[in-house]
Amino acid sequence: MFNIIFIGAPGVGKGTQSAFIEKDYSIAHIATGDMLRKNIEDGTELGKTAKSYMDKGELVPDSLVIDMLNERIQKDDCKNGFMLDGFPRTMEQAKELDKILAKLNHKIDAIIDIYASDEIIIKRLLNRGRADDNEETIKNRIKVFESQSKPVLDFYKDKVKIIKIESVGTPEEVYAKIKKELDLIKK
Ligand code: AP5
Repeated sequence: MFNIIFIGAPGVGKGTQSAFIEKDYSIAHIATGDMLRKNIEDGTELGKTAKSYMDKGELVPDSLVIDMLNERIQKDDCKNGFMLDGFPRTMEQAKELDKILAKLNHKIDAIIDIYASDEIIIKRLLNRGRADDNEETIKNRIKVFESQSKPVLDFYKDKVKIIKIESVGTPEEVYAKIKKELDLIKK
């Protein structure tokens, strides 16, 4: 198994880079934001609750996201490994993930701490134009990342290898830096 976590601000390129990794390493891409958007699209109760938070750039309550992740991580396509994109995003989620992985006898091989300036991030997201990609919500998402999600890196710092990657240049250039580091760990 090869298990990776992406930690990075909105728009930094977690989803973009995950697509390269999924292909090269044949591991499942688990993006909690995509899963929540699918629930909104399908009109589920979870989707209805999540939408009110996502529209404002706030985090969806931990219990809802943890249950969703717990179910997803046990699916067959995770047998070879998985890459978590957008989870854990709070200390509570990180602690619960530890418990879930201990039960399954899995471990995390690496954390990718991916970063870029707010200026780059805002420009990329305004160009993309998803429902939550307006300037006010983007700024709140960045604020929420700084206050609630960045501290999660401290939780892992003495436990898991952390790879720090600056997300500048083309997606392919950024991926080349990530791949070099991942190959050192995987060999
Ligand atoms: P989520 O869907 O996870 O969004 P996010 O973290 O804000 O991240 P994005 O998807 O916006 O950005 P990304 O880093 O994946 O960048 P991407 O590759 O797309 O979460 C949305 C919401 O769901 C949250 O606000 C929250 O409400 C809720 N949620 C999700 N998970 C949760 C959890 N665990 N707990 C609680 N709530 C949760 O790239 C962005 C753009 O930039 C694209 O257009 C891309 O083409 C472009 N781009 C990427 N790389 C480059 C490059 N190198 N050069 C030029 N352009 C680039």
